[in-house]
Amino acid sequence: MTTTPTRPTAVPSIEQLPQPALRTNTDIQGNILAAFNKDFMDFRYLHFPDAAKGRGWLSAILNTVATTSETEDFNEQFSLARRAFGRDPAITTVRCGVSLTFDGLMAVAKNPQQVETDLTGFVALREGSAKRAAQLGDTAESDPKQWLFGAGTGDKVVHAVLIVAADTEELLKEKLKNLDAVENAHQITRVHVDEGRTLTGPLKGHEHFGYKDGISQPGVKDFHRESQDRMGFRDNHAGTELIEPGEFVFGHKSETGDRQAPGWMKNGSLQVVRRLRQDVAGWNQAVVDGVKQFTGTMDPNLLGACLVGREKNGTPLAPPSNAVTGLGSDRNDFDYQDDPSGQHTPWVAHIRRTNPRSFAGIVDNKPKSHRLMRRGIPYGPEFKGTKDDGKDRGLMFVCYGTSLEQQFELIQQHWSNSPDFTPGKDPAPTPEPHNGFDKVIGLAGKASIALADGTHGTVDMKRFVRTTGSLYAFTPSISTLRLLAEGKDLPNKPVGS
Ligand code: HEM
Repeated sequence: MTTTPTRPTAVPSIEQLPQPALRTNTDIQGNILAAFNKDFMDFRYLHFPDAAKGRGWLSAILNTVATTSETEDFNEQFSLARRAFGRDPAITTVRCGVSLTFDGLMAVAKNPQQVETDLTGFVALREGSAKRAAQLGDTAESDPKQWLFGAGTGDKVVHAVLIVAADTEELLKEKLKNLDAVENAHQITRVHVDEGRTLTGPLKGHEHFGYKDGISQPGVKDFHRESQDRMGFRDNHAGTELIEPGEFVFGHKSETGDRQAPGWMKNGSLQVVRRLRQDVAGWNQAVVDGVKQFTGTMDPNLLGACLVGREKNGTPLAPPSNAVTGLGSDRNDFDYQDDPSGQHTPWVAHIRRTNPRSFAGIVDNKPKSHRLMRRGIPYGPEFKGTKDDGKDRGLMFVCYGTSLEQQFELIQQHWSNSPDFTPGKDPAPTPEPHNGFDKVIGLAGKASIALADGTHGTVDMKRFVRTTGSLYAFTPSISTLRLLAEGKDLPNKPVGS
């Protein structure tokens, strides 16, 4: 386990410290640094008929777009009340966020040519998700030809993604009614709508395969408070490293100085929205059948946990590193350093593939440059029973960051979809066929697992997650949204580092 310097003892208590600078920011949209965290979240993929109508729509919705400050104020109030009363408080609200695809930016910008030149280095954003499909494994059943959004032409080109997030269905409906009127007034058309809904009952906070989600997120310097006991880590979130804010929002310091952007992108972020359909019956059957290929103590629950890296209730397979912080199902205080061969958390596990922690920097010496701020929510009805009911359910995967190539795409392409991803391990840790693909979001194929107690075997699984829509977009600051809405010039002197 990494040893981290501890802070000298004579320091003020957390309460005496000023708010971190970004905590009160009113220019960065909500949901990037401060999560919306809502049970009801609609996604509208919108098409602008022309520049004037697009700008008109932006002007009309501008005042409803949530800021970081107000989003986090609500979140704090909610958590305090929950802690005080031991249950969710009866405070509710609705939040909106808006992003523009490259086509959307070109459609509303006063000077599209300048925007195109400014975005020369932002290749993935300019090309869009559908053009990157082959390299990301969006093939066969996940081919863009079958997508519900993100690959259309003509009036099916998506210009804006509007997220409307509410604590109750009533609040959501009320807000959507207002937004319908605004869309109608400006003749904005909808390419597609998705209804994100958290699962209920014992599955609350879990995704459709049944595993608890939303546990591990990066901490952000100048937004989250630093722990007084462990420098470089987030207060009250053991194991959560603080990452430079420029990794998630443009115009701020990044980890390696590779995130410069034109001035109009300051306080904005890049967004990935992927509609990932899950075959729950298929997954459940595969972990039952898969056990037969193992010798030792394997059972379906353990095999599922090996493929995810956590048990269904969230408990990680990684052994606790600390007797106090190492307890509980939300435990996140581990870095795999004591498990190079994947004997506790196999290399095939989704959480190890998507965040290899202490192994992340071995490939390119940029250990903190590949993190994502995930804001996903399930869609579709809960799976009940054992047989496939043919219903469409899955995850609305949403994430934010300042490099599509170094963050989302690197993880999907080079970590999840590489059969032999075991950085720093020489020789390969497990016998043929090595560790295989990430079994949650990676390609189909064999993977070997060898646990510390001698249990070992091979899983041979098809894909149970397929892409049914995908978009890359830019989530502008409130001030840039205003400039775009008013058809004004965009400042483009480079910012950030
Ligand atoms: C249907 C698709 C997906 C499912 C069912 C799924 C499920 C999960 C679960 C159960 C966790 C553990 C909970 C947690 O640590 O928060 C997790 C973590 C994570 N997932 Fe996914 N996920 C999906 C798609 C993706 C995609 C597309 C990516 C990015 C390419 C991704 C990246 C991550 C990351 C970075 C973590 C945190 C790992 C860590 O820090 O330990 N996931 N996911």
